[in-house]
Amino acid sequence: MSPLAAIARRPRIVAGNWKMNKTASEGVALARELVALRAGDPAAARAPRVVLCPPYPSLESVGGAIDGSGVELGAQDLHAETHGAFTGCVSGPMLAAVGCAWAIVGHSERRQLMGETDAMVAAKLRAAQRDGLIPIVCVGETLAEREGNLTEEVLVRQITAAYHGLDAAAARATVVAYEPVWAIGTGKVASPEQARDAHRVIRATLDKVSGAGRGSELAILYGGSVNAGNAAQLFAEPDVDGALVGGAALDAAGFSRIIAAASVGG
Ligand code: 13P
Repeated sequence: MSPLAAIARRPRIVAGNWKMNKTASEGVALARELVALRAGDPAAARAPRVVLCPPYPSLESVGGAIDGSGVELGAQDLHAETHGAFTGCVSGPMLAAVGCAWAIVGHSERRQLMGETDAMVAAKLRAAQRDGLIPIVCVGETLAEREGNLTEEVLVRQITAAYHGLDAAAARATVVAYEPVWAIGTGKVASPEQARDAHRVIRATLDKVSGAGRGSELAILYGGSVNAGNAAQLFAEPDVDGALVGGAALDAAGFSRIIAAASVGG
């Protein structure tokens, strides 16, 4: 298969990670506004898959607000076990039961603030798949790692740890998000070239770990200060298959412009 055919088969995806923002009623209002804006989008027929990842207490009500719209529901994390004495944690079956189809795993905020290790991220990836959720596997280097020329090493380590031992079919049923930590919430977006280079390292690593061809099959999203003003430039890079959006996903008008940017030529 030609590389272009492989690219054409990759879905475009725009996911909004609301992080710890919005009460349930605020989330419903945001989701309704987004659905209304998208319903009026003439490009909607060739729009990307759109995923909203609100906080746990809003999942069910936001799920109701997007029901039938084509917008999908995702969780920001999950516990690797299905149930048990894990105070404060939420499991995959619980998320699936409230309508989630996706789960973010390995977000840098969880790696950095909650001490999540590569091994925990690998376990969560497998748990998400066991429980019927599509994992969005986040990887990315810190500023110190980039400045120390360690970006490639970090991405190879994180992807290898997450995907090692996963069979080809399971690897194919995942999405990767490249989120350089220095670009998250800082307004400093990676250049399209920086995103392309990182995505290529990730694809090459997936080829090595999960078998030749996996790298070009998987959608790789870019995340880190994506907004309505810079999205089109990022999506013009053929190795960028969409975005994982934080702050700009909290505004329906801006987020729908990012979705529209992903629709062009998609
Ligand atoms: P920002 O878009 O706010 O930089 O956050 C990116 C992110 O962490 C998405 O998961």
